[in-house]
Order: sequence, then structure tokens, then C-alpha cells
Amino acid sequence: MTRASLPAHLIRLRDLSVQDLDLVLERARSLKQNPMSGELAALTVGLLFFRGSLRTRISLEVAMHQLGGDTIELTASSDFWDLEVRQGAVMDGRPPEHIRDAAAVLSRYVDALAVRPSTPGRSWELDRRDDEIHTWAKYATVPVINMESALWHPLQALADRSTLREELGDLAGKRLAIVWVHSPEPASLAVPHSLLDIAVRDRMDVRVAHPPGFELDPGVVSMADETAKENGCEVRYGLSLEEAVDGAHVVYARSWQSLSAYGNPTLEASRRSRYTDWKVDDRLLDLSADARFMHAMPIRRNIEVTDDVLDGDKSLVYEQAENRLHTQKALLLHLLSR
Ligand code: CP
Repeated sequence: MTRASLPAHLIRLRDLSVQDLDLVLERARSLKQNPMSGELAALTVGLLFFRGSLRTRISLEVAMHQLGGDTIELTASSDFWDLEVRQGAVMDGRPPEHIRDAAAVLSRYVDALAVRPSTPGRSWELDRRDDEIHTWAKYATVPVINMESALWHPLQALADRSTLREELGDLAGKRLAIVWVHSPEPASLAVPHSLLDIAVRDRMDVRVAHPPGFELDPGVVSMADETAKENGCEVRYGLSLEEAVDGAHVVYARSWQSLSAYGNPTLEASRRSRYTDWKVDDRLLDLSADARFMHAMPIRRNIEVTDDVLDGDKSLVYEQAENRLHTQKALLLHLLSR
């Protein structure tokens, strides 16, 4: 694609200013009322999945359809092959193609590339660099949208910000509890990282509950702490479920991996198995300030959260999932409209 002023990538939500985020969410509110628009007619977004997805895949596909454009989906392993990411690699291993070349070629076919990169899971020091998504962004000549890397999930955070604002109005001074819950399958840290980041940018007070060994990434924590200090809000970490939920306006649950056991699935599983009682139920929510319940999904019922909470009138999980569609449409218009 050769249109002027492309690309502006979205790797994390900080790639958008608060003013731009406000504009995107205003547009999303309007699209929620009037969903159809032909503004992206004849434009195509390539969706590249190196890991599975339900919400992200379908909401982006429907988003482009409702905006008059198209998507092309490619899934690693079934539709194409492993791609090399290392700069200057001598490519005598399994991947027959470099991201550099794939990004350059695909940029000549489509108007944006949305990528859910693989997360090899061997070393957090390596995975936290998000090399794959940054390499796509470096060599694509169209906007690259991160559909959830090791560190960030900006599309989820955008929908979460929209849902929080719909429910609570101005977020400044409101209290958000981000609570680790048990699950047999470790999930990524991209969701709590992105949520924490957007919450402190919106001046929320944040309480993070997790067992020992399940700390968030230190780089993300230090960035959040710095922003919280600038914005006059407070973040506390390492709390019990009860401490975090006490007085909360929103309880957001997620099961995430232990970084201190990253790359060692046996140790990680053994560590998380000690905390099977870390779950959101009515008893816990009763400690809050009439809190709404949020979760990015997929969700393991009666492991992470009880049916009573998930199906109760405080649950916003389907609203969050729906808002993925409206907010992504507004984002696509922001990135691609001319
Ligand atoms: N929340 C989320 O990103 O869902 P998927 O993994 O199904 O896309």
C-alpha cells in the first residue's frame, strides 16, 4: 500500500494518547447505536493467528464487514508456516520465511495487519520483549495491530475502558480490584498488564490480588507506579482476594502465569495447584462496594468464578465481549480512514 501517512501501529494502548482514546470511544458509542457504515469500503485487514481466538477473530471480522471492508484470515500451521523472527538469522532451521519478508509482501496486498503472535513460553526475559509483533511493525508498511502479545492486549483494554466508562462514568478515584484466580491452564499476563496500564492512566485506584510468585511483570509495574504517582492515584500489589475486593467498584478476575516459574510448566502447575481456593464467588463480592464483575474470557466456570456471579446481575462479561466489536470498529476507522 502506498497511501501517505501510513502506518500508525497499535502495539499497546499507550500508542494512543488519552485524547485519541476518548475520540475512539466516542466513535464507538455512536457505532453501537448505528452499526453499519461504508467508510472502509474496498479496504482489507489481514488477520494472522499464531494462537487460537474466539472473540478477537470474530469481532474483527464482523467489524470490517459492518464498515464495508473485508478481512483475510491466516492461521499458522494450517494456512501457512512458522516464520523466522531473529535479525540476521542464517535460516537453516524450520521456518522457511522471515517475518521481514512476510510483512513486506502482505503490506502490498492488505491495508492493515492484525497479528496474534506466538508466545514460545521458554523464557520470560525473551518473551517480554514482544519481538514478533515489533518485527511485524518494523517491516510492514501498513498499520500493525497487536491482537495479544506476551505483554499487551490493547484491543481487550480498549473494550474494557469502554465498559468501565459505561458503568462508572468518570473513572478517576474509582477502585478497581484485579484479582488472580486459579485455573488449571495458565493464561497470559497481557490482560492484567493492559488493564492496569489503562486504569492508572484514567486515575483509578487499583488493588492487585495474587499469591506469592504470581507478581506482574516488573517493567509494567514500574511504569504503572510512575503513572499513578503523576496522576495522584494509588496501586497496591500482592494483596489477598479479600483485601483487594474490600471497597472495590469493579472486580476483574484473571488467571495468569507465574513469572518465577515461566518456562517450567511442571513447577508452574505445582505452584498454582496450591491456590485452588482463589475464586470469585458471592461471598467475596459481598465485601465490595456493590462491585461489577469483569473478565476478558474465555472463562472456566466454577473454577475461576462461580455460576452465581457469572450469571448474576453484576456480571459485565458479555458487555465486555460485545464492546470488543464497537471499539475495534472505531479503532479501525481511526487507523484507516482517510
Ligand atoms: N479476550 C480474548 O481476547 O478472547 P479470544 O482469546 O477468544 O480472542
